[in-house]
Amino acid sequence: MRFSHRPSIFRRLVVAVLLLTLTLVLLPGSATRTLWVGPFTGAAPWGRKQGASRHPIDALIQTAENGAAAKLSKSTKTLAAAAAAYRTRRGRHPPPGFDKWYEFSTERDVIIVEDFWDQIYHDLEPFWGVQPAQIRKDARDFDMRLRIRDGKASTSSDWFWTKIWLNMTQTIEHLLPDMDIALNPMDEPRVMVPWEEMDVYMNKAASTRRIVDVGSVVSSFSRPPSSQDAPQEEHKSMPPAQWEHDKHYWLIARRGCPPDSPARQAQVITDFDKPPSIASPFSPNLTHMKDGYVANYTLSTDYCHQPDLQALEGFFVEPISVSATKSLIPVFGGSKLSRNNDILLPAPMYWSEEERFFGAEGASIPWASKHKQPSAIWRGVATGGRNRATNWRAFQRHRFVAMNNATLVAHHQQEAQPAPPNFALPDSRYPPPVLHPSDLANATDVAFTEMACVYKGFSPSCNYTAAYFAPAQGVPMAAQFQHRYLPDVDGNSFSGRYLGFLRSTSVPVKATLFREWHDARLVAWRHFVPMDARFGDWWGILGYFAALGGGGGGGEETRRDKVGEGIAMAGREWAGRVLRKEDMAVYVLRLLLEYGRVIDERREVLGWVGDLR
Ligand SMILES: *[C@@H]1O[C@H](CO)[C@@H](O)[C@H](O)[C@H]1NC(C)=O
Ligand SMILES: *[C@@H]1O[C@H](CO)[C@@H](O)[C@H](O)[C@H]1NC(C)=O
Ligand SMILES: *[C@@H]1O[C@H](CO)[C@@H](O)[C@H](O)[C@H]1NC(C)=O
Ligand SMILES: *[C@@H]1O[C@H](CO)[C@@H](O)[C@H](O)[C@H]1NC(C)=O
Ligand SMILES: *[C@@H]1O[C@H](CO)[C@@H](O)[C@H](O)[C@H]1NC(C)=O
Ligand SMILES: *[C@@H]1O[C@H](CO)[C@@H](O)[C@H](O)[C@H]1NC(C)=O
Repeated sequence: MRFSHRPSIFRRLVVAVLLLTLTLVLLPGSATRTLWVGPFTGAAPWGRKQGASRHPIDALIQTAENGAAAKLSKSTKTLAAAAAAYRTRRGRHPPPGFDKWYEFSTERDVIIVEDFWDQIYHDLEPFWGVQPAQIRKDARDFDMRLRIRDGKASTSSDWFWTKIWLNMTQTIEHLLPDMDIALNPMDEPRVMVPWEEMDVYMNKAASTRRIVDVGSVVSSFSRPPSSQDAPQEEHKSMPPAQWEHDKHYWLIARRGCPPDSPARQAQVITDFDKPPSIASPFSPNLTHMKDGYVANYTLSTDYCHQPDLQALEGFFVEPISVSATKSLIPVFGGSKLSRNNDILLPAPMYWSEEERFFGAEGASIPWASKHKQPSAIWRGVATGGRNRATNWRAFQRHRFVAMNNATLVAHHQQEAQPAPPNFALPDSRYPPPVLHPSDLANATDVAFTEMACVYKGFSPSCNYTAAYFAPAQGVPMAAQFQHRYLPDVDGNSFSGRYLGFLRSTSVPVKATLFREWHDARLVAWRHFVPMDARFGDWWGILGYFAALGGGGGGGEETRRDKVGEGIAMAGREWAGRVLRKEDMAVYVLRLLLEYGRVIDERREVLGWVGDLR
């Protein structure tokens, strides 16, 4: 590819586009027409007929608005309707305590759409394929635990996350049966059962799923035998979980994928000491993409069809720490990859609302008073795992920062220069203006605050990356909200600032491979802008929203700015409705009632049928 002639082509293009826009504006009825110069497949966009030239992002936003409205329209207003929606979606009776859960929810003005709890069922379903006594034993054997006894939660751990999770659980303890909850103290998820074994658990689970005759339903949890803590209770128990510490996590991650999936089929990359090979956002293999943008966010966070990610995410290459098991044991934690079998809780920083993750005093800055340029800001530490001279090119944050460095981009646009060290320039289907380096310099303010070198830890620079990165001053979260677009990229695991971003009047632009408790209640392109884990769509997103590279000109630029504001405000409003601490407590109460049932010997007949008797 040649980019060196781009500036002059760019100027000619802008003139052509302006002329065309002017002509259209003067035509009657032109207000409904849009003109775009964004990524697309096929002939040059400026040569396309009007009407057929909608920007792909407009279509994605339209679909998202419809999807969000459809979801909300399923909300139920009575206990009986909530129970009926439960039975339809889950294929079982609700768990004992469902009426108390409903009361707890309505007292807190919670929107009840059964789909919002999908993650719980995704996480717990395989445990219906494990003996209850086995699950209880595995929980007791785990070193970090919460205990619930006689409606009181306690822990012997003083790890700060455990304290926060304890505080969260105490808000609902009086509604819970006795149980032990194993908690993951690490950033990294712990459980990755091979796909073939998970298939067996899921089949066993499916065979237990039915709506039991009302007459046979038992409506209260078993009082666990007082010997519950004695190991003799267990017979024929599985061997204790073995912990693996293989730092090449891709080898662990891929076993969670189906045998015929690209992740299982593709060659394993072991040499990270060269520029990674990055699939184009237009690649037909990336089935979560459409016209160069993320069209299925859930699928975008799955890695089984994206084997090139094994060399594009630090977590796959070398996490800070690894302690993983193949055994299906009940470990609760704050985030996980799509194929991990950990059970999700709201992350501790979401419950504690730590200021550095929220920047509350800047969160309500009106859109109109935010800086016009740069419209996007990102600051962070060069985390992602253990980066070294021979693997840093595979780290997502390094890649994202480099892609926003106008000097570096310009440098690599000159044909004489070697290939970019850790990112791919957008392919020829992206319009040249998006790549104009001075646009990029004005549109984004992206930098590390600190490097993390394998040989000396946090530091202003590492000898192997010094030529590419110069850390900048940190910017407090509240001040970041002076900017309209906030890219959010994974660190060592998920990014804890996401909820703060959603609650603000800026737009989170989210790229992640991690799943969180709230995923089923957020709609991509409605409440946030999704970004592919390769970031190949980043310039296009900026091009659309931040008028980078022409953006469509005058009126269209204003319209798109309003579209951006619409997402920022919809996300903020929605976060204020369904991501409050009250919503977290309601989520955890539902989760633990379900967990209480799946660890109960009588689980197959336990249920709440108060509406049917
Ligand atoms: C949880 O922590 C908050 C803030 O520290 C405190 O006000 C509250 O009393 C705690 N709740 C419980 C049940 O301990
Ligand atoms: C797309 O997937 C096919 C089949 O898995 C594979 O052979 C091919 O190399 C992939 N192409 C890219 C660009 O990843
Ligand atoms: C997104 O992908 C998932 C997983 O493949 C699929 O189940 C779901 O139907 C897709 N959603 C849409 C809207 O296409
Ligand atoms: C970038 O910003 C500089 C300084 O504000 C300005 O002179 C220049 O015209 C801007 N460039 C573009 C392409 O907007
Ligand atoms: C960087 O410094 C470390 C520690 O002094 C040294 O071992 C390593 O060889 C250096 N690497 C490079 C690329 O200079
Ligand atoms: C941008 O890249 C150049 C090398 O091309 C580097 O010298 C500079 O420090 C980088 N800037 C930032 C903010 O990382």
